[in-house]
Amino acid sequence: VYPNQDIASKKVAERIATLIKAKQKLGEKTILGLATGATPVGVYKELIRFHKEEGLSFENVITFNLDEYYPMKPNAAQSYVAFMNEQLFNHINIKRENINIPNGTLRENEVADFCLEYERKISLYGGLDLQILGIGRTGHIGFNEPGSAPNSGTRLVTLDDLTRRDASRDFGGKENVPTKAITMGVGTIFKAREIILMAWNQKKAAIVKKAVEGEISSSVPATFLQLSDHVEFILDEDAASELT
Ligand code: F6R
Repeated sequence: VYPNQDIASKKVAERIATLIKAKQKLGEKTILGLATGATPVGVYKELIRFHKEEGLSFENVITFNLDEYYPMKPNAAQSYVAFMNEQLFNHINIKRENINIPNGTLRENEVADFCLEYERKISLYGGLDLQILGIGRTGHIGFNEPGSAPNSGTRLVTLDDLTRRDASRDFGGKENVPTKAITMGVGTIFKAREIILMAWNQKKAAIVKKAVEGEISSSVPATFLQLSDHVEFILDEDAASELT
């Protein structure tokens, strides 16, 4: 638990930078699982600073984003492709071919094959070194909403009503928020060698308490993280305020 989200975000960015540098020394690539939303913005800002001011190179970094709305055009303002470009990728030296984000433009009958291929590609690189996560107020990680199985893989899911309400500001009304998304599964996330879940602000306090202290259940998918010994929750004081 950190005093505020700025300090916490800098710690997470430092961890990522250290990992990238260590792997680079070994001549290895770093495979990162990335999240969108408000939570990781400070981390991305600090990574950009590391790149611009301290010469951190992303040349040997491969990224896999957790999720994308479905359907979604990559050039739409609300797409996670646009988000990642604006918040991180446009400002660092990552190779475009090393960026992976679920494809929101597929026909519905193409999605299942795409999802299998996404999983296969992660495995081909040797798996995710580090996955960063936010948490939704439904208890989702990625877009694994209540009801998601612990061994679920990348797949097309239906978004929870609360998730769509929380996204409504970005879309100018809940009715404009897609009803579906493609997301890595809980099982996909679990395979990462390290998992860092971040949460800031009072509005996350109740779900953080459930995730950390509640009964493990698919009704709060983030509770599955209790079963892993390579997970850390990095919180600000407000998000941690209901923990006993
Ligand atoms: C985003 C994602 C989601 C968000 C969660 C929290 O790629 O997978 O699980 O991390 O909805 O969103 P924010 O950070 O906007 O509160």
